[in-house]
Amino acid sequence: MQKYSFYNDYSEGVHPSILELMAKTNFDQEAGYGNDSLCREAEGLLMAAIANPQAAIHFVSGGTQANQLVLASLLRPYESVIAANTAHINVHEAGAIEATGHKINLIATDDGKLSADQVLEVVAEHTDEHMVKPRAVFISNSSEVGTVYRKAELESLAAACRAHDLYLYLDGARLGSALTSREADFTLADLGRLLDVFYVGGTKNGALIGEAIVINNPALQKDFRFHLKQRGALLAKGRLLGVQYVGLFRENLFFELARHANAMAERLIRGIRKLHFSFLTESTTNQIFPIFPDGLIAELQQLYGFYTWARTGPDFSAVRLVTSWATRAEKVDEFLQDLERLTQHIK
Ligand SMILES: Cc1ncc(COP(=O)(O)O)c(C=O)c1O
Repeated sequence: MQKYSFYNDYSEGVHPSILELMAKTNFDQEAGYGNDSLCREAEGLLMAAIANPQAAIHFVSGGTQANQLVLASLLRPYESVIAANTAHINVHEAGAIEATGHKINLIATDDGKLSADQVLEVVAEHTDEHMVKPRAVFISNSSEVGTVYRKAELESLAAACRAHDLYLYLDGARLGSALTSREADFTLADLGRLLDVFYVGGTKNGALIGEAIVINNPALQKDFRFHLKQRGALLAKGRLLGVQYVGLFRENLFFELARHANAMAERLIRGIRKLHFSFLTESTTNQIFPIFPDGLIAELQQLYGFYTWARTGPDFSAVRLVTSWATRAEKVDEFLQDLERLTQHIK
């Protein structure tokens, strides 16, 4: 029997309504390399959502690619990027940023988030040309440990960045989940105002593949298509990416799907709390990190797919459970029933 997966939010394919839109437009002849009518419509929809008609929007196929492209295009050879130690660019991108010749200045965090003060400390430590020059700040919303930056935190980071000539870049692989979290007090329009660059993640929120890079800062817009081309990211069939964002943003699908993923995560949290387990972080998004005894984890892993994330004590570890637009409530309930049964059995 195949185990039900809580490994990640890309276990399933694509939301059926996007697939339908792909089929409907399949025989339309379109221009290549993102110059097609679907990309144009998707750009228009995104610009309206972020309330920045001056933004430049580019569709790429994955998150690592987006991060590498954006940061390599922002930074001069001796410049660096500041990020949390948990940042995806630090832990899970095989050195993609370092491979472009840029150092990542790391800040230790428990909650996956950076504060303006922490950023300023790093800036203050870099005094002259014998060191790298921090020039960009990388944040993820939601973060890699499920937490959410609130509007005031984003505003304070943006102000610190502006005051110190730093670009603020937000990795939005799970932006849908952050925007629809019960904690979220910011909108896409706030991101259009506060960030130099960010991306709106599609892959983890109902698209087959795709991330939409939004360059708000006009000074950073020039020649981005050359960067795309040189790194193999300018797809001849760019329409594939455009059509998916039309599907996500023509109605409210992007938000509906993220809301569903969050609701499934909350359902898990409620059930797990009832059994008196604690969590590594206070997540309000679709990645949660309950702490279980190692024996229980081994038994649960016979039945479900999920990652063990971090050791938290001699016999305890945090695991990562990820829900998605396609997670079924009955599977969440089955997981909780199995958890309760195994917990009693282990006691
Ligand atoms: C926050 C974040 N950024 C970037 C990525 C990278 O995405 P990809 O695997 O498409 O390169 C991920 C993927 O898990 C992620 O969680």
